[in-house]
Amino acid sequence: MSTSHSDTQLLNVGDTMVVSSPPAAVPDLHDGQVDTGRIDADSKRLINCAQVDVNQLMPIKYKWAWEHYLNGCANHWMPTEVPMTKDIETWRSQEKLTPDERLVIMRNLGFFATAESLVANNIVLAIFQHVTNAECRQYLLRQAFEEAIHSHTFLYVVESLGLAEGEVFNMYHEIPSIAAKDKFEMDLTSEILDPNFTTEGFAGAQTFLKNLIGYYIIMEGIFFYSGFVMVLSFHRRNLMTGIGEQFQYILRDETIHLNFGIDLINGIKAENPEVWTAEFQQEMINRIKRSVELEIAYAQDCLPRGILGLNGDLFVDYVQHVADRRLERIGLPTQYGSKNPFPWMSETMDLSKEKNFFETRVTEYQSSGALSWD
Ligand SMILES: [Fe+2]
Ligand SMILES: [Fe+2]
Repeated sequence: MSTSHSDTQLLNVGDTMVVSSPPAAVPDLHDGQVDTGRIDADSKRLINCAQVDVNQLMPIKYKWAWEHYLNGCANHWMPTEVPMTKDIETWRSQEKLTPDERLVIMRNLGFFATAESLVANNIVLAIFQHVTNAECRQYLLRQAFEEAIHSHTFLYVVESLGLAEGEVFNMYHEIPSIAAKDKFEMDLTSEILDPNFTTEGFAGAQTFLKNLIGYYIIMEGIFFYSGFVMVLSFHRRNLMTGIGEQFQYILRDETIHLNFGIDLINGIKAENPEVWTAEFQQEMINRIKRSVELEIAYAQDCLPRGILGLNGDLFVDYVQHVADRRLERIGLPTQYGSKNPFPWMSETMDLSKEKNFFETRVTEYQSSGALSWD
């Protein structure tokens, strides 16, 4: 039974918690049932939920959010578990990597080093406060920590290989093809950070969906994937296998981030069907097509002359193929019909789903028995 009882709970008003007084007596309902002041799962809403306090984790309504949370926890890893000795040896040698191969690795480290921060900040500052559901917020907390682990990875790689940190961490405004992707995203965060922004009303809900599509579908679902292919192609050649293994873990995490985002977007659409207009759908298709152009330009910029097995032209088909897969997951028509030129990526992703695929895990987590308090 669904109940509405704004008089008994902590209410979430914007991001301000308001405590209101409990009722003087438990009212008798007309059907003889007693209103205990407790909620049922049906009252929960993904956005604009005034009737259920966001601290109310149980009863869970959105079981997919909890599943994604458990899967994320089951995949826990730390970048420092991956030994970098072989990568250091390869990077320092004069003959194992060509200048073009070094460029591919550097550009991808530079893109991801900052992209992980952009995603984390968008979750914490923009998405979290407007998702009015406890089980989704539980997942967002887990995802935010995973993004911190991904940022940690790039610091660890820069330190291990002795790279110029200023070069890697400034590419997001010094390399035009990276800056263009990041500006596309940062503009979306700014819209939500406008102090007048609210998800209430037609335009607000659409702007929020645009942010979710911009981050989950475009950033984590399209902008990350050329980099995954490029870095994992070295791993396939038994080069830079430490970074390759870290990218496999990141890819595994990002697959869950993408799936959560798709469930969240489709859930908001289902609860607010009036905002998913034909005009808005076309606007989202156009944005995804623009992101495909930016991603192809980025891939070509990483591969001006190509390296063994990879060239910029292959990424035209690849990025279009990936974008089609994302479009169909949120109920939009595919646009390209391109074939995947890297079928091995599917195998890598299947491998990523397996629970125990750590190749080189060197540390165990501390158990309570191993902790020392003095
Ligand atoms: Fe990430
Ligand atoms: Fe992510």
